[in-house]
Amino acid sequence: MNSPSTRVSIIGAGKVGSTLAQRIAEKNLADVVLLDIVEGWPQGVALDLMQARGVERHDRQIVGTNDYIDTANSNIIVIAAGIPRKPGINREDLIKINAQIVTEAAKQAIAHSPQAILIVVTNPLDIMTYLAWEASGLPKHRVMGMGGILDSARFQTFIAMELGVSIAQVCATVIGSHGDLMVPLPRYSTVNGIPIAQLMDAGAIDRIVQRTRHGGAEIVGLMKNSSAYFAPASSACLMVESILLNQSRLLPCSVYLDGQYGVQDIFLGAPCRLGYQGIEQILELELSDAERAAFHDSGKLVLQSIQEAKTILKNAG
Ligand code: NAI
Ligand code: 2OP
Repeated sequence: MNSPSTRVSIIGAGKVGSTLAQRIAEKNLADVVLLDIVEGWPQGVALDLMQARGVERHDRQIVGTNDYIDTANSNIIVIAAGIPRKPGINREDLIKINAQIVTEAAKQAIAHSPQAILIVVTNPLDIMTYLAWEASGLPKHRVMGMGGILDSARFQTFIAMELGVSIAQVCATVIGSHGDLMVPLPRYSTVNGIPIAQLMDAGAIDRIVQRTRHGGAEIVGLMKNSSAYFAPASSACLMVESILLNQSRLLPCSVYLDGQYGVQDIFLGAPCRLGYQGIEQILELELSDAERAAFHDSGKLVLQSIQEAKTILKNAG
């Protein structure tokens, strides 16, 4: 399955893109093509990563480029190009800029790799995944967004920190949008199979849920000029690994929902099986009334933002 010619192209060689390239190559998952709009930058990052091979001792090729031709015949395309939210850029401008970047990247990349699976990382995640899906013309099982794995990783980290247990024993899941209205699910979160409600009180769970919801903002607050990139790159790499190695892992990803959980025509975080064909199955968890209402609230906001993004794109011509 994992032949030497397996190729992942990453559009956007910034902090997330370049860290993801490093992880993919050093895990020996695939050759990597890094594409960026800035001339020289992806070539420099690729050369640096190639030189690291002298120490890391793997034979994966990393190529930097400004031309989509070099991404041809990729098994996976990851879109991590765009601008982050920053002071002076309002939400509408952010959506406008990233929507244009993401739709163009999806069209160009898929034109050169029509068989590829598309993973979107650019924010606002669920909206950009929807727009990339539409622009790519790909079937829905071959397009997905990375958000829930990162949010779940943060939830797991805070549970392990609170209890002082190894993260290796913590399983937790977050569904819904990748944003303030995400839905962490304490009922589906365990330490070695034991529900966390038996290990900590409701106040502690609530504190951890809130910290998870603001996990991205907490890091921006500390780093000021950057958002997180190590954990995001690890999360995207897990998706790449599950696909290329046909692992069929159960992972929360932003997926096209067509009636599941009572929502329609939207990309939103839900647990799914991820393998060589892409999304193999979307799991419908049994939710309490409160969990279902929270999921619907996060969906409503995403649906509204998708309409807003479509209007912005239409007006921009
Ligand atoms: P960054 O600013 O370090 O990198 C973005 C890169 O995109 C830059 O190198 C830039 O030159 C490039 N770029 C801009 N326009 C382009 C175009 N038209 N074609 C090709 N490349 C282009 O940003 P970072 O930290 O790597 O984040 C990238 C995106 O990922 C942001 O939208 C960020 O909000 C998002 N993100 C999403 C996460 C998630 O969980 N879904 C987690 C972390 C970041
Ligand atoms: C995060 O959650 C910015 O979406 C990014 O860190």
